[in-house]
Amino acid sequence: MKPGALDYLRCIHCSNSVALEPGYDTSGDGTEIVTGALKCNGCGVSYAITRGVPRMVDAAVSTAADLTSGEAFGHAWRAFPRIDKRYYRQFFDWISPVTPEFVKGKTVLDCGCGKGRHINVMAEAGAEVIIGVDIGGAIDVAYENVGHLPNVHIVQGDVANLPIAPVADFAYSLGVLDHMLSPAAGLASMAKRIHDKGSIAIWVYGAENNGWITTFINPFRLAVTSRLSPGPLKMVSGTMATPVYLWSHFVVRPWKSLQKSVPLPSLFYQDYMLYISDFDFTEIHHITHDHLVAPVANYSSQNEVRSWFEGAGLPAPILRWHNRNSWAAFSSRDPEVLQAMKDRSAAVEATKE
Ligand SMILES: C[S@@+](CC[C@H](N)C(=O)[O-])C[C@H]1O[C@@H](n2cnc3c(N)ncnc32)[C@H](O)[C@@H]1O
Ligand SMILES: [Zn+2]
Repeated sequence: MKPGALDYLRCIHCSNSVALEPGYDTSGDGTEIVTGALKCNGCGVSYAITRGVPRMVDAAVSTAADLTSGEAFGHAWRAFPRIDKRYYRQFFDWISPVTPEFVKGKTVLDCGCGKGRHINVMAEAGAEVIIGVDIGGAIDVAYENVGHLPNVHIVQGDVANLPIAPVADFAYSLGVLDHMLSPAAGLASMAKRIHDKGSIAIWVYGAENNGWITTFINPFRLAVTSRLSPGPLKMVSGTMATPVYLWSHFVVRPWKSLQKSVPLPSLFYQDYMLYISDFDFTEIHHITHDHLVAPVANYSSQNEVRSWFEGAGLPAPILRWHNRNSWAAFSSRDPEVLQAMKDRSAAVEATKE
């Protein structure tokens, strides 16, 4: 933890600022506080700092379901810690109409940062300050991957009860609200951490076109895979990833090329399979693992996603059906930003037609 994090951290019980207790240990070069404690300036609650990360989660406040999700994903990110260069393009594809130019110079909050792959993207895109929060063991992987970056702060915290001051220019959450007991509460909490001109982007699994997952995969995930220990789960996910890899690379890709000259129908789940055919086997193994590990996975409809924004008091979002199987949404409290993003979104969609 860098001392500068104190500008952004707030007590999860009373929202007051926190102070560093004397007697902490720093890293060799003195830039990081590795072990120590924070104390709330209001209610006096103490938060440990261990392995460089302030631990601002309280089991009495977070739901058991969210804590369990954090634990499961902690193992998953530990099994797949790699930062791939393709994440940059994938990130901006997920959160379009947001661009690298939009992010430049901003204070950014990554809600449910996992192994920190998108914090790395934000740093490359020129964000001024990036705060990454995750509820579980993934936060240690994030700290190892990006904690050394000078403008990055890594905190263990719950998206439903963020230990963060309301100062973010831009908060985003990718693939996280769908693993929370209440995605609406997660978004409402994010909305409280952006300022009065701030913006929010999210990406979640969609209900539409995913009936085959909710009918066939979810019961298997709930009864079997989410209960497996990390080693066996990695073997099961690897076995299931193999046909996905072969199908996406050696059937869907050539099929799509053929469609340019021959009027062939689209294959099952074609858009998504084509999308992941860009990745190597390790990444497809990770994507499959990610689907199977989650104890909670919500598949939300367009209307549900819209209702979360309404409930959080945010302007109606720009909604995009991503790969015909998930929802990307953007909203801003700054009407000019929202209008500019609507225009950009329309322009991007027009190029696809
Ligand atoms: C599918 S992963 C996505 C991680 C990251 N956003 C990415 O795209 O690489 C979901 C992450 O959300 C975290 N998570 C789940 N519930 C959470 C909560 N209530 N608060 C904070 N993080 C949470 C998990 O620990 C996990 O790392
Ligand atoms: Zn307090």
